[in-house]
Amino acid sequence: MFWYHASTKHSYNSVRTNPNRIAWENQPNTYKNYPESYKKYKLNLEVVEDNFLYHIAGLTAKKTYPSGEYYLRINPSAGALYPNELYFQMRGVEGKKDGIYHYEVRSASLTLLQSINEDEGLEPYLGFNRAMRGYLFLVSAVYYRSSWKYKNRAFRYCLLDAGHLLGSIEAAALLKPHVVQMLYNINREKLNRMFGFEGREWFLAGASMAVPIKNTEVEAIEFALPYVDASRSFEQNEIIEQAYSETMNLEACKRQIKAPKFTYNTTKLQETLFHRRSQRGFHEGAITKGQFNYILEMIEQPILSDCDEKVNVYVVVNRVLDMPLGLYKDGAYVKYGDFAQKAGYLSLEQYSLSQQGAAAFFLTSKAKNYQALYQKAGIIGQRLYVAAQYMQIGCSGIGAYYDDEVNDFLGNDEMVLYALAIGK
Ligand SMILES: Cc1cc2nc3c(=O)[nH]c(=O)nc-3n(C[C@H](O)[C@H](O)[C@H](O)COP(=O)(O)O)c2cc1C
Repeated sequence: MFWYHASTKHSYNSVRTNPNRIAWENQPNTYKNYPESYKKYKLNLEVVEDNFLYHIAGLTAKKTYPSGEYYLRINPSAGALYPNELYFQMRGVEGKKDGIYHYEVRSASLTLLQSINEDEGLEPYLGFNRAMRGYLFLVSAVYYRSSWKYKNRAFRYCLLDAGHLLGSIEAAALLKPHVVQMLYNINREKLNRMFGFEGREWFLAGASMAVPIKNTEVEAIEFALPYVDASRSFEQNEIIEQAYSETMNLEACKRQIKAPKFTYNTTKLQETLFHRRSQRGFHEGAITKGQFNYILEMIEQPILSDCDEKVNVYVVVNRVLDMPLGLYKDGAYVKYGDFAQKAGYLSLEQYSLSQQGAAAFFLTSKAKNYQALYQKAGIIGQRLYVAAQYMQIGCSGIGAYYDDEVNDFLGNDEMVLYALAIGK
C-alpha cells in the first residue's frame, strides 16, 4: 500500500487523540483571480459554449452565516473548500479566440492567459502530437485550501475533488453532446513550471473534449506565467508534497477506449446539474430496485482514459425495495444481513448518511497509479451524484471513514478511497 495512504488512515482512536485544530485566522481564499491586466471574458449563459463551461464549475447557491456569505458550486467539494482550479486550451471553438484560459469561478469569466497559433499548443504535454480542435482541460489543486483543515489527509481530498471536477466536465459535455477522455499522463513538471505555480499549486489531470485536426502536427508551446496567489494564506506540508512528487509519473498505464453510454435527457440533465446539492441527512426513505439498477448502470459505464486503474465498488443495501439487505460487489452478494448501522459507524459515525440512507457505497483499489486511481474514485462519485439526483434521490460524498475497519467489514486489504451514500 502507498505509504501516504497508510499514514493518513482514520481510526476510532486517531480521530479522538488527534482532533483537528483549525486556525480560523489562516482560512485560505477559495478563489484564484488573475490581475485585471489580463484580458477577461464574462460568460454569457445564452451562448452555448459559455453555458457549457458554467455547468462544469459555476456558482449555484449562496449560503449566509453570521461569519459571512459563501457560495456553493456545480461541483461538490470536501468541506466546501474547493482546492481545484480549472484551466483549458480552446482551439477552433465557435466564437472564441484560440488560446489558453483560466476559469475564474468567482466572476464567472474566462481569463486569457496565453494565445496560441495553428502549429503550437498544449497538445504535446497531454500526449497528443496533432492539433486538437475543441477543449483540452487541466485540473490543478491549490493544496493548502484543503490541508488548512484536513491536514495530511488533504491530498486524498484534493484528488477526490479533482475527480468530481473531471466528472463535472464529463457530465457538462453530455449537454452538447460530447464524450470526454481523462488524461493522467500529462507532463506535470513542465506544466507546473510554465504556469508559475511555485509549488503551491500543481496539476493533477487533464481531460480532452477535442478531435485531432488532419495533417496538423503541433509543437509544444513554451511560456512562463508569473505566480499568482490562489489561497491568501499558506503553510507548507511536506508529507503532501512528497506524496504528490512520488506520484507525478505514471507507470504501466492501460487505456480505456470504450466509450460510456448514458441515457440522460438533455433538458432534465441540465436541471439536475444546476440543482445538484449534497443531502445533509436521510430520513430512512426507500428507493426502488429500478432506480437502484439505473444508478448502478450509470456509474459502471467505462471511463475513457489514458490510464484506467481498477476501482472496486461495494454497496451496502439498506432500503431498496425488493432487494435483500446485505453487502454487494459488482451486483453480486458478498454477505447477507442488515449492515445499516455498521455502515453508519464506519463512515465516522455519520449515521444520518450511511445508516439512514437507502444504500452506502465504499470504493477501494489496490492499483498502482495513485493520482489516476484516486481521481477515478472521484469521477465515479460525481456520476453517483448525477445519476441519483436525476432520479430525485439524494446523495452525499463521505471522505471520512475508519479505513481499517472498512477493510475488515469488506473482507479485503485494498486502499479505501471514498464512501458515499444515497437515499431519501
Ligand atoms: C470528497 C468529498 C467528501 C465529502 N465528505 C463529506 C462528509 O464526510 N460528510 C458530509 O456531510 N459531507 C461530505 N461531503 C459533501 C460536502 O460537504 C459538500 O459537497 C460541500 O459542502 C458543498 O455542498 P454541495 O455538495 O451541496 O454543493 C463531501 C464531498 C466530497 C466531494
